[in-house]
Amino acid sequence: MFYLCTPNCIPNAVENQTIYILAIESSCDDTSAAVLCNDRTLSNVVASQKIHEEYGGVVPELASRAHQQNIVPVVDRALAKANIDKNQLSAIAFTRGPGLLGSLMVGSSFAKSLALGLKVPLIEVHHMQAHILAHFIQEENQEKPTFPFLALTISGGHTQIVMVRDYFDMEVLGETLDDAVGEAFDKSAKLLGLPYPGGPLIDRYAREGNPEAFPFPRPKVDGLNFSFSGLKTSILYFIQRETKKDPDFIEKHLADICASIQHTIIGILMEKLEQAVRETGIKKVAIGGGVSANSGIRATLEKASETAGWQTFIPRFEYCTDNAAMIGIVGYLKYLNHQYSDQHVSPKARFVMG
Ligand code: KG4
Ligand code: ZN
Repeated sequence: MFYLCTPNCIPNAVENQTIYILAIESSCDDTSAAVLCNDRTLSNVVASQKIHEEYGGVVPELASRAHQQNIVPVVDRALAKANIDKNQLSAIAFTRGPGLLGSLMVGSSFAKSLALGLKVPLIEVHHMQAHILAHFIQEENQEKPTFPFLALTISGGHTQIVMVRDYFDMEVLGETLDDAVGEAFDKSAKLLGLPYPGGPLIDRYAREGNPEAFPFPRPKVDGLNFSFSGLKTSILYFIQRETKKDPDFIEKHLADICASIQHTIIGILMEKLEQAVRETGIKKVAIGGGVSANSGIRATLEKASETAGWQTFIPRFEYCTDNAAMIGIVGYLKYLNHQYSDQHVSPKARFVMG
């Protein structure tokens, strides 16, 4: 039995038109495929690559090999879960960039071949735009932001504050000058001897710790930009100093250290977000990207909606870390506007939004 979508509120949507998008995401270390029926997710399959854990970070060569192994079964599973035959697909959407070139090439080559074989449009998607537009996936009891709104995109590769005027009218107001916030989490975790990716583990240990136990300095950066490299260095010196005095320091204080690191990172993010709200007068704030799965960030934003009168938009966990459903919603929006790519399109490791 096929799932039929009801017409939605997205402008230009043709009443009763049912569009099936197969989306493919392979920008880093997750191979993902999703099927969307208009703006609803029918399936969203993610194969995470465990191989990088033992190396303490993503190894690009291993990532592209794993994508090659995963892509066919992941796409097959996404189609099967959606109960959709490939001949029903209206278009193929894929991540063009930014990301690791070898990883992007696997997804883009697959998407191009499939689109060519099925004679359906091919649609390129910007990964960070997708993290933002994931908020427009139709979900029960989930309100969508109205334009304009501010987006805080926080991932393993990016940290940006974006003014979103329309689906495809976005302006980066500020961004990190060095490490991304996800790297700050992962590199701090590595210093504590935790495996990659350490962000979720810091989050987990932080729940039992005192966020004020160990104060770390916050950087002074102009405008709405961020910097996280100084934090990493101060954590390194702090750990070296304390383990010299007590070799078991990390083990004894892991929860407090994690809570303090997370508290400092959230403080850095919130300071700039508050500044962005003040400067733009826009009180609608959406978060996106892997780090938006962090429970501390989610709780802080929820509190801001009560105390500062912000309207906040926090994605479901499934749409925080890399996933193809977010690529699919952009594919759908572009399909409505006939924004297709041709077969000459090539992946871009560095890909400016806009
Ligand atoms: O968006 P994403 O899946 O991939 C990139 O586009 O980079 O983000 C991955 C990042 C990693 O740095 C990971 O440690 C971080 O998101 N992350 C978290 C949490 N879950 C994922 N960081 C802090 N707390 C979490 N719960
Ligand atoms: Zn991402």
